[in-house]
Amino acid sequence: MMLYRVDDYPYERIPAPLLAWYDQEKRDLAWRKNSDPYRVWVSEIMLQQTRVEAVKEYYDRFMRALPTVEALASVDEEKLLKLWEGLGYYSRARNLQKAAKLVVASGGFPCEPKELEKLPGIGGYTAGAIASIAFGKRTPAVDGNVFRVLSRLTENPTVISEPKYRAYLEEKLGEIYPEEGKRCSDFTQSLMELGALVCKPTSPDCEVCPLSSVCRVRVSGRQGEFPVLPEKKAKREEKLFVFLLVKNGGVYVEKRTSGLLKGMYGFPTAQKEGRSAEEILKEWGVSAFTKKKEGRFTHIFTHVKWEMECLVFEVSDAPFLWVSGEALEREVSLPTAFKQCVRMLP
Ligand code: ADE
Repeated sequence: MMLYRVDDYPYERIPAPLLAWYDQEKRDLAWRKNSDPYRVWVSEIMLQQTRVEAVKEYYDRFMRALPTVEALASVDEEKLLKLWEGLGYYSRARNLQKAAKLVVASGGFPCEPKELEKLPGIGGYTAGAIASIAFGKRTPAVDGNVFRVLSRLTENPTVISEPKYRAYLEEKLGEIYPEEGKRCSDFTQSLMELGALVCKPTSPDCEVCPLSSVCRVRVSGRQGEFPVLPEKKAKREEKLFVFLLVKNGGVYVEKRTSGLLKGMYGFPTAQKEGRSAEEILKEWGVSAFTKKKEGRFTHIFTHVKWEMECLVFEVSDAPFLWVSGEALEREVSLPTAFKQCVRMLP
């Protein structure tokens, strides 16, 4: 077995072949059309938790509806959340608007990463991405793809969740970035692109990789061992009832005031905690109800798994606000967790 010193890796051999490959193989993505910081910023926020394929459609629709930072700053929140519906992690949309208001108030986007980081929703990674992609700065952006590519190239055994590891890679990349204003945007995106298209999590396509001649796992065959991932924590499981309370063709939705999906519309839920659904309805002051249907669904969030028992009740006495099935579709941005329940409506 060959032993390498991680620090001896020849990083300077990465940029030329990688950029040449990127020129040939990069995907034609809407946010790569130009370097408008608004367009780059929105794409980076959408891509934070969501795959490129899933983002594409949302991104186009979002840009058509809100083509400028001014439009985003002044749109009403309901419309914004409707545009975000299905992307999940709705605090991203709210932060986007908060940041848009600050950008408009200050007369434009900052171009320095430290200034970008002061905006809501922009952390170190996103600031680096925007500064290099939109402003041509020499600022690395190490996302999951980039961790994977670099950990494999160098056979670095550090667990990727180790905070020092990101800083280490940023420093190493900082030494090999193209000159400011030259190809910094392409270099940032080429690392991500290689991770997405070639150096994939499982079955990487090493035969077509432009960096295979400087790749240590290519020699050792240990692609599957790198990057070293942190131990997975089991997700907390919550067992809950989801109530679809229907009356005269309408279903009750409410704005959630606590817990997961706080601030979003949804059907009322209750943790089971050994209680029956009927007991819970009575606690809520609903006494005249008939159960029509039940179904089970799961939804997985980052740290929590919802085991939902979804119940349709016809009710006659509840003092609630009702939304027709049509208006639900048109006007309410319903989180994905609840979308599957909608199918049970009469
Ligand atoms: N992931 C995050 N930013 C990206 C970009 N600009 N292109 C492709 N994937 C990305």
